[in-house]
Amino acid sequence: MDETLGLISAQPGQTIVDCTLGRGGHSQAITEQLGPTGLLIALDVDPRNLEFARQRLKDSSCPIRFFHANFAELSDVLALAGIEKVDAILADLGLSTNQLFDAHYGLSFAQSMPLDMRIDPRTPRSAADWVNSMKEEDLANVLYQLAQERYSRRIARKIVEARRITPINTTDRLAELVRSAIPLQGAGPKQIDPATRTFLALRMAVNGEVANLDALLLEAPRRLKAGGRLAVISFQSTEDRKVKQAFRSVEQAGLAKVLTPKPITPTEAEVARNPRSRSAKLRAIQKLS
Ligand SMILES: C[S@@+](CC[C@H](N)C(=O)[O-])C[C@H]1O[C@@H](n2cnc3c(N)ncnc32)[C@H](O)[C@@H]1O
Repeated sequence: MDETLGLISAQPGQTIVDCTLGRGGHSQAITEQLGPTGLLIALDVDPRNLEFARQRLKDSSCPIRFFHANFAELSDVLALAGIEKVDAILADLGLSTNQLFDAHYGLSFAQSMPLDMRIDPRTPRSAADWVNSMKEEDLANVLYQLAQERYSRRIARKIVEARRITPINTTDRLAELVRSAIPLQGAGPKQIDPATRTFLALRMAVNGEVANLDALLLEAPRRLKAGGRLAVISFQSTEDRKVKQAFRSVEQAGLAKVLTPKPITPTEAEVARNPRSRSAKLRAIQKLS
């Protein structure tokens, strides 16, 4: 949090975009720095988080415009707000803890819940639609490409066999099928549940996460004023790699300077306060012209 705020470096009167409002933690701190003459443009694909943050920020002295929008739609949002360029843009990728565990989103295999995974209610197809209709080969490719699942083919085969008997409509049934497709591994304290990668890949596919990030990384640097900053926090190595490459290419094009030659990771104190921040990597650029 402190490092992000330092890199964003919000000044009174500036205009800043929080692409991933979430529960409003970053935005609260940013609006305090922007003050009554500043403007925060806040977006989130999840109307429930948007409403939560709107309540949290209702007494803010800084004007805030809220948008139920995907950050891939950044240019539409700025057009609606009548703004061409801004002083800073923040994207804190991934999901908030409530989304990971609340049954409404159907993302967790820690308990039985309808297999859904859509964060944005505008998304047409749920995870159940994907696993009950995809061709076996396509399903295996999604698991391999998005989460590097080495047993992707075995898992896809298991899913296709099981859905012939009854459709797979709950998170716990899918998790059981995945576990039964993977050879037993020696028990160890650090072992992650074998279903984790399949759930991650499906979540990314259902919500179009790769395409959304690509669109953001293309558009956001264009929307910065000279001297403006873009900060992105990612939680997975594939996302961090994309951010690193995109930042390097705008730097090579002479358009921006990379402010973080190495990604910034959280301090031990922050990890102790918020264990889910453990895998966070923060990178930032500053627009030159
Ligand atoms: C890690 S949380 C952000 C937490 C926030 N920075 C805070 O301090 O509370 C990520 C948020 O981004 C939203 N999100 C994920 N992908 C998005 C996208 N493509 N466009 C807009 N919001 C997105 C999620 O719905 C979630 O609320």
